[in-house]
Amino acid sequence: MRHILVTSALPYANGNIHLGHLLEHIQTDIWVRAMKAQGHHVTYVCADDAHGTSIMLKAQETNVTPEALIASVKASHEADFAKFLIDYDNYYTTHSDENREFAELIYRRLNAEGHISTKDVEQLFDPEKNLFLADRFVKGECPKCGAKDQYGDNCEVCGTTYNATELKNPYSTLSGATPILKTSKHYFFDLPEFSEFLQQWTTDAGRLQPAVANKLQEWFESGLASWDISRDGPYFGFKIPDTPANEPDKYFYVWLDAPVGYMASFQNLCTQRQESTGTTDPQRPALNFDDYWLSENQHKTELYHFIGKDIVYFHALFWPAMLSGAEFRTPTGVFAHGFLMVNGEKMSKSRGTFIQAATFAEHLHPEYLRYYFATKLSDKVEDMNLDFENFMQKVNSDMVGKVVNIASRCAGFIVQQHDGVLSSNCSEPDLLADIMRTGDEIAIAYENREFSRAMRLIMQCADKANEYIDAKKPWAMAKQQGLEQDVQDVCSVAINIFRQLMVYLAPVLPELTDNAKAFLNLDDLSFASRNTLLLDHKINPFKPLMQRIEQTQIDAMMAASKQDLQVAPEVNTGIGATINASPMPQTASNRSKQATRQTAIDEGTDASGESSDNSDSSDSSDRFIDFADFSKVEMTVAQVVACNYVEGADKLLQFTLDIGRDTTINVFSGIRKFYEPQQLQDKKVICVTNLAPRKMKFGISEGMILSSGDPKTGLVVITLPDACQVGDKLA
Ligand code: MSP
Ligand code: ZN
Repeated sequence: MRHILVTSALPYANGNIHLGHLLEHIQTDIWVRAMKAQGHHVTYVCADDAHGTSIMLKAQETNVTPEALIASVKASHEADFAKFLIDYDNYYTTHSDENREFAELIYRRLNAEGHISTKDVEQLFDPEKNLFLADRFVKGECPKCGAKDQYGDNCEVCGTTYNATELKNPYSTLSGATPILKTSKHYFFDLPEFSEFLQQWTTDAGRLQPAVANKLQEWFESGLASWDISRDGPYFGFKIPDTPANEPDKYFYVWLDAPVGYMASFQNLCTQRQESTGTTDPQRPALNFDDYWLSENQHKTELYHFIGKDIVYFHALFWPAMLSGAEFRTPTGVFAHGFLMVNGEKMSKSRGTFIQAATFAEHLHPEYLRYYFATKLSDKVEDMNLDFENFMQKVNSDMVGKVVNIASRCAGFIVQQHDGVLSSNCSEPDLLADIMRTGDEIAIAYENREFSRAMRLIMQCADKANEYIDAKKPWAMAKQQGLEQDVQDVCSVAINIFRQLMVYLAPVLPELTDNAKAFLNLDDLSFASRNTLLLDHKINPFKPLMQRIEQTQIDAMMAASKQDLQVAPEVNTGIGATINASPMPQTASNRSKQATRQTAIDEGTDASGESSDNSDSSDSSDRFIDFADFSKVEMTVAQVVACNYVEGADKLLQFTLDIGRDTTINVFSGIRKFYEPQQLQDKKVICVTNLAPRKMKFGISEGMILSSGDPKTGLVVITLPDACQVGDKLA
């Protein structure tokens, strides 16, 4: 049994949780649950990142204290994550006593070892607001191309990176005032002293993904720079200790104490557990801070950080250097993920694709998102595209059509005809053994964070189950006398496979699998439990476990997302305001601004190779389809431009159809026996225009003309009144 501490990056306390954050926390949570399911001792902590200028300003704008602001944001963050079933052992805040103590301790140790120095820094200062301006709070004309309204770090028009002091005609975005240059003393952490250590550390096996390690290599080659870790007041954060009494207070830059928040959250959890000693909840075992953080325990326990690619610099350079300089253990691994795109583009407020967690959860079940992310996540640093059409199709076809369908097709026969009791023998031991074996591969895929691979393997198992049911047709057998035992056997095999699938899906779909537990009358879905069969076991009546997604839900969610932002525009004007915001120190040299370029760490485009796997479910009792099924069929008013006989085909006519928007398509239709071509010339007909093109002996057919009747005895092509407009859709 391994002892593992896991974290997700700490969300800024200046905005709401959105789908980008969820990508990270869902990825982490799935991994944590999968590792727990395999019997490891895993602890998962997180916190809000509560310090910095943005939060201070936001509190001022809304006329509350920063403490009140971060408390209410924390409550809303926790509520959002809970909806998405993220199961932290502790969710804390960086504005805590524990964090102050650890930040001071680390700083003092670094200082004592000579890793801290001071330097005067000249910076832009807002004379009206009386504060130094971070890059995101200054705008002006690009020194290179002259583009107006560019931020203090780089030009969005020509891409040049510069210092804020180089901007022409700069102004403060806070007050509009012209900033002045002002000098103050800053504290620096001597990162270059750790170069050798870091070069070794970042290339240790298993520590970083290859793409990240390669990127870091580039940074090493261009040399590391000292890191500015101080900020002048007013600032919302911790005061740097031991500074000269006759000098103004200095504060830790938010990124100094943010990762320390991982330790603080864990320490706080240890205290909570100690205080609850006497209770013997196996889910909440005692924890010892030193086991996880002292350098001598580096190999006794494991520490992993899940982060986005934009904050690699902080986690793979500053953080391990700080820890090692202060004689704490360093992370076992840092796992970076790419950014979330929605419908192929960066999340955008105006397009309604900047989707907040709460808005999503109001319209769509959070487990849909967990499953979709799982089908697309790998151990790579690739960006991920949330394409809502693909999302709906995947969830409906995989979860509803394949997985839940197995139980819904078979449970009824067991419950109604066999008192809910499964067969006492397994009639397909090979099939079950095959699916158990696949479990080994699935477990490995989870551990390696190859969730898309795990989901593919699981769906292959589901396909096997559905093929088996299709071949056996229990619904047909059930109508015949004397086949009761066969029906029970077939359905018992199917229910056993369904149980295996629930074990495999439990890390991704905790709520669905909890409901499945109730249906299966089981209290354990751990990975080990899959090696047994349910024989002679009584199950409960089946209740639908997951509903299909309707297009209307997605439309409503997108509309609400647009509205959200009109009603409550996000006030975060600064760091972290945009999804790609760079949290770099404002006085950083251009060299350390490389950190802002980390979006370049990528391993190419999405390689998940979308497959449109539609499983046919032949449950004859499923009489109804829902609107989403119906609306998949695109029926278009088309006009016959040309209609001809086809050489060598006595059943077909060939059509050239105008389907609107200057588009014509070619269609073959089996109505030769009933029509002469000229009878249909210029007629308006109904054509299904989103059928996959079909290659025939005579050419490709790109659609289907609707007709009524019997293809053997007589077909009537449905023609439309003149008032129907070519290109219009039927609904
Ligand atoms: N507060 C810092 C992290 C401190 S960790 C010691 C921060 N906060 S953040 O709120 O801006 O981002 C938190 C995490 O969410 C980061 O890992 C970031 O990469 C991730 N994401 C934010 N937007 C994202 C997307 N659009 N897509 C995927 N992840 C994104 O950075
Ligand atoms: Zn420019």
